[in-house]
Amino acid sequence: MKVLITGATSGIGFDTGIKLIERGHFVYFTVHREEQIKTVVGHLKKLHLLDGASVFQLDITQEKDRKLIYDLEVDCLICNAAIGYGGSILDIPISSLEDNFQVNVFSNIKLIQMYCGHLFLKKKTGKVVVISSIAGIIPIPFLGSYCATKAALISLTTCLKKELKLITDDIKIKLIEPGIFNTGFNDVMIENREESSYFEDLEPTLTELEKSLFSLLGYNRTNSIVKKIIYAVESDSNRLIYSAPFLQKTIARIYSFFR
Ligand SMILES: NC(=O)c1ccc[n+]([C@@H]2O[C@H](COP(=O)([O-])OP(=O)(O)OC[C@H]3O[C@@H](n4cnc5c(N)ncnc54)[C@H](OP(=O)(O)O)[C@@H]3O)[C@@H](O)[C@H]2O)c1
Repeated sequence: MKVLITGATSGIGFDTGIKLIERGHFVYFTVHREEQIKTVVGHLKKLHLLDGASVFQLDITQEKDRKLIYDLEVDCLICNAAIGYGGSILDIPISSLEDNFQVNVFSNIKLIQMYCGHLFLKKKTGKVVVISSIAGIIPIPFLGSYCATKAALISLTTCLKKELKLITDDIKIKLIEPGIFNTGFNDVMIENREESSYFEDLEPTLTELEKSLFSLLGYNRTNSIVKKIIYAVESDSNRLIYSAPFLQKTIARIYSFFR
């Protein structure tokens, strides 16, 4: 399969790309910023995997970048790119909230519309794998913006699957719900927050608490979730949701049952 991954410079996206090449697929590693191309190419060279890959810039928010890949032959699209803003709902600037939705939700949906509508429906085959998060099921105070984008992705992807089922069984839609992994993403998100006027006194304690909680619960290796993404990419089943690690997945299930 030819698989395109967005935001594949590091973390879950990069690790998934490596595994996919090792399993014989061809991977388009797309990166946010041009200077990241060199880094990814360097890593792939070291691993002797460059033949199975193509690396280029795709800022998913940019129409000109999305247009460049319009005619690219792709069998599977993995929507992995994301950003996160921290901050209380009372404090967060609406511009940050908009930016968060622009990247995590609207741009991903634009890519899905493009590939599903233009390519997959015509080819009568194709897969879309959307990386959401357990944070889309369990809202985390002071990370509400990020959680809301991931919850929106869960709803939209579920509807997409139900709608497509009415016209075709050939296109598979998959939703990935990772738990916490120490990729650096969560640290940036915690740092990435506006000073609070309403929670000023709590601010230092909150930041420390969030950091310790994430590093305590977070997994250093991404292999459990990468394994699930690979299942999703290669599976011809109609199963929608794939989640890992097991403990966090179970907690999320129990939470959604009782809430
Ligand atoms: N780590 C976790 O605990 C966790 C848990 C649940 C879900 N997830 C999800 O897993 C996915 C991968 O996250 P990760 O943990 O592996 O962190 P990561 O390595 O930081 O991956 C996020 C990637 O998205 C890229 N990106 C941001 N804005 C973009 C844009 N406009 N266009 C294209 N790419 C853009 C980032 O590039 P820059 O570095 O240049 O910004 C980065 O390469 C995300 O969807 C995240 O929400 C992560």
